Order: sequence, then C-alpha cells, then structure tokens
Amino acid sequence: MDKSLLDHILRIRLPVTIFVIIVAFTITYFASRAERDGIGYTPTQPIDFSHALHAGEMQIDCQYCHTGVEKGRHANIPSVSSCMNCHAIAKRDSPQIQRLTRHYEEGIPLEWERIHRVPDFAYFSHSVHVNKGIDCANCHGNVEQMDKVGQVQSFTMGACLDCHREPHKQMPELAGLIQKGPEDCAACHR
Ligand code: HEC
Ligand code: HEC
Ligand code: HEC
Ligand code: HEC
Ligand code: HEC
Repeated sequence: MDKSLLDHILRIRLPVTIFVIIVAFTITYFASRAERDGIGYTPTQPIDFSHALHAGEMQIDCQYCHTGVEKGRHANIPSVSSCMNCHAIAKRDSPQIQRLTRHYEEGIPLEWERIHRVPDFAYFSHSVHVNKGIDCANCHGNVEQMDKVGQVQSFTMGACLDCHREPHKQMPELAGLIQKGPEDCAACHR
C-alpha cells in the first residue's frame, strides 16, 4: 500500500473512527440507563391507564392483555383495538377515552413508554420463567395495586444471577418445583 495512504489511515481515519465509536457507545449506554437499572423509573404514559383499576378492582387477567407471557420472549402490550372491546361502550364520556377512541378510529397506535428493558446483547424470555410458575410479582412487584407502573426491581446481570443461584430463597412456595437458573455465560449471551 502507498505509504502516505497508510499513514493517513493510521493517523487520522483510525483515531476518528475510534472516537466516533466511543461517543456512540457512551450516548447509547447513558440514554438507555433509566431502563437498565432504573428502580423507581415511572414514566408518564400517553393515556392514564391504571392497572389498579383494570387488573386490581376489575380483576382482568394479566394475560388478557399481555398475551405473550407463556409463548415466548415478550409479554406484549395490547393494541388500542383490545381496549376498544370494552371502551366502545365503557366510559365514553371521559376525555381520556375519547382520545383513545380517536387513536382507534385513525389507526394511530399509542406510544407507550417502555419501562423495563434488557439490552440486546442479553437474552431474556418470559415463557421459560412464567411456565415454571414464577409469578409476575417476583419481578414486577404488585402491579395490580399500581395506578402507574414503575420499575421496582433491578435487572442488572447481578440481579438475574441472584435469583438464578438461590431461587428458593426468593420463592419458597416453588421449592421442589423449579431448578436453579443457569449461570453459564452462553445461556444469557447467545
Ligand atoms: C386491560 C389491559 C391490561 C391488563 C389486564 C394488564 N395490563 Fe399490564 N399493561 C397494559 C398497558 C396498556 C401497558 C402500557 C402502559 C403502562 O405501562 O401502564 C402495560 C404495562 C405493563 C408493564 C410495564 C411494561 C414495560 O413497559 O416494561 C408491566 C410490568 C405490566 N403491564 C404487568 C402487568 C401485570 C402483572 C398484570 C396483571 C396483574 C397486568 N399488567 C395487567 C395493559 C394491561
Ligand atoms: C374488560 C373491559 C375493559 C378493558 C379491556 C379496558 N378497559 Fe379501561 N375501563 C373499563 C371500565 C369499565 C372503566 C370505568 C371504570 C369506572 O370508572 O368505574 C375503565 C376506565 C378506564 C379509564 C379511566 C377513564 C376515566 O376518565 O375515568 C382509562 C383511561 C382506561 N380505562 C383506559 C383503557 C385502556 C388504554 C385500555 C387498553 C389497554 C383499557 N382501558 C381496557 C373497562 C375496560
Ligand atoms: C423472571 C422475571 C420476570 C417475570 C417472572 C415476569 N417478567 Fe415481565 N419483564 C421482565 C424483564 C427482564 C423485562 C424486560 C424484557 C426485555 O427487555 O426484553 C420484562 C418486560 C415486561 C413487559 C414489557 C413488554 C415486553 O414484552 O417486554 C411486560 C408488559 C411484562 N414484562 C409483563 C409481565 C407479566 C404480565 C408477567 C407475568 C405473567 C411477567 N412480566 C413476568 C422480567 C419478568
Ligand atoms: C425471580 C427469579 C428469577 C429472576 C429475577 C430471573 N430468573 Fe431466569 N430463571 C429463573 C429460574 C428458576 C430458571 C430455571 C427454571 C427451571 O428450569 O426450572 C430460569 C431460567 C432462565 C434461563 C434459561 C432458559 C432456558 O432456555 O432454559 C434464562 C436464559 C434466563 N433465566 C435468563 C434470565 C435473565 C436474563 C434474567 C434477568 C434479566 C433472569 N433470568 C431473571 C429465575 C429467575
Ligand atoms: C442470568 C443471565 C446472565 C448470565 C448467566 C450472564 N449474564 Fe452477563 N449480563 C446479563 C444481563 C441481563 C446484562 C445487562 C445488564 C445491564 O443492563 O446492566 C449483562 C451484561 C454483561 C456485560 C456488560 C457489562 C455490564 O455489566 O453491563 C458483560 C461483559 C457480561 N454480561 C458478561 C458475562 C459473562 C462473561 C458471563 C459468564 C461468566 C455472563 N455475562 C453471564 C445476564 C447474564
């Protein structure tokens, strides 16, 4: 290779590339921080949907709305049309429900703020946990008592491993029914 071209790459292009990568990584890392270890992270949502009312007082099953928990990785957030199963009739005089109805009629999804999130390089799946009988409350707290959902537990690697090492300490009711969770790197970093 041309010596001056090589020189150019090493002295200018390479440091610039490395700098850009570091800046991009740092921004992504801190921008997602609230969702990564955000105990107490309770964002304002586009509609004042209350779990205390729907899942608590009215006792609608979690899986009526979070249809994916037994099937795969994600729990799923219900679409506006599943709210309309009831709200085509219920509380139509409420301004919040009128807003919901407009979204439905115009086909614009609600942009719910995400509360819990593990980074892409770590693998988490609801179904393996939920199908073993682990209750939502072990990881999400008593959601049926929350008007506004917030993160109550940490999902750092250490927190996942704390339960994997001694699941019976956190869930004595499942003693004898569940194995320990995996601790090998490849189980969660695939
Ligand atoms: C009538 C539908 C409905 C029912 C029933 C319901 N949810 Fe939800 N859930 C939602 C909607 C809509 C959101 C997004 C808005 C929010 O965070 O409040 C949500 C958000 C959540 C989140 C936060 C998701 C995130 O962004 O990380 C958790 C955790 C959750 N629900 C757990 C539960 C549990 C546990 C139950 C049962 C006790 C339950 N939900 C029952 C509709 C429902
Ligand atoms: C199984 C029926 C049912 C489903 C499904 C349902 N709701 Fe409701 N919701 C109700 C009823 C009934 C009320 C009124 C309760 C009352 O005031 O006594 C209500 C109240 C509300 C309120 C409060 C309105 C106000 O101004 O007081 C909001 C906001 C709301 N629902 C949003 C939603 C959203 C968003 C969804 C979908 C994620 C949803 N609901 C799904 C039955 C339902
Ligand atoms: C072992 C811990 C654990 C259990 C048990 C658990 N969750 Fe989660 N939940 C998580 C983690 C971790 C995330 C973030 C997942 C991600 O980013 O992919 C999450 C995310 C969610 C979300 C956000 C949307 C999504 O699909 O990622 C909802 C909604 C939710 N959980 C509802 C529930 C419900 C309902 C139950 C019970 C049926 C439940 N979870 C049981 C740990 C758990
Ligand atoms: C409340 C306890 C608890 C928490 C918190 C928890 N786990 Fe688990 N997890 C378990 C148990 C128990 C098992 C094994 C169940 C069995 O095989 O009986 C398991 C199994 C797994 C598996 C193996 C799935 C398979 O395919 O065999 C993975 C991957 C996993 N967990 C990832 C995670 C990650 C990532 C987190 C943190 C974000 C997490 N878990 C948090 C209890 C927990
Ligand atoms: C039970 C699941 C699980 C196992 C097993 C696991 N990790 Fe992780 N790991 C995670 C999660 C979840 C994160 C993301 C934590 C966060 O967002 O703060 C993570 C993050 C990391 C990071 C990024 C730095 C950090 O702390 O955020 C590295 C590096 C890492 N893991 C390496 C390893 C190695 C090496 C092993 C084996 C010795 C391992 N992990 C085993 C779940 C796991």
